[in-house]
Amino acid sequence: MRPETPACAGGCAPTGRREFLGRVTTALGAIMLGFSATAREAAALPFALGEALAVEGDEVSYPLPAADGATIDRKNEIILVRWKGHVYAFNLSCPHQNTALKWLASDGRFQCPKHKSKYQPDGTFMSGRATRNMDRFAVKKSGKNVVVNVARLFESDKQKAPWESARAAV
Ligand code: FES
Repeated sequence: MRPETPACAGGCAPTGRREFLGRVTTALGAIMLGFSATAREAAALPFALGEALAVEGDEVSYPLPAADGATIDRKNEIILVRWKGHVYAFNLSCPHQNTALKWLASDGRFQCPKHKSKYQPDGTFMSGRATRNMDRFAVKKSGKNVVVNVARLFESDKQKAPWESARAAV
């Protein structure tokens, strides 16, 4: 069974059973002086709302993203990210108090709307009240798809090695 997560609170995108929505190109603002190279690269990451191809037991399948970008599947509470040669699947909930995370286009990173914790596109904690990275699901490639195992959710502070390996090379 999937670990329980609360319904999205504040900042969730609309739910739907629609086919994948077209990608929404992020509007990029001016990059502030001193912005890190990582943030500059991440700022180009496109964002989309989407839904799974299939759900079978604990496995949720998505098309392998063709390019770097982030997709939020609100129904299954999963964020799928392709970034720098890997695919990641995150729990939509912030690891601090379970608020639904948002992609902050202007800064090229995830941010929690509740207490403003910030995370890189690979889920690495940057700042804020959270005490760990975004929680990662086990993920694997399967042909042209990505399969997320929602029964295997890793917390970086308690399961460091599994958390670090919870990604698939693309
Ligand atoms: S709920 Fe996300 S930082 Fe507190």
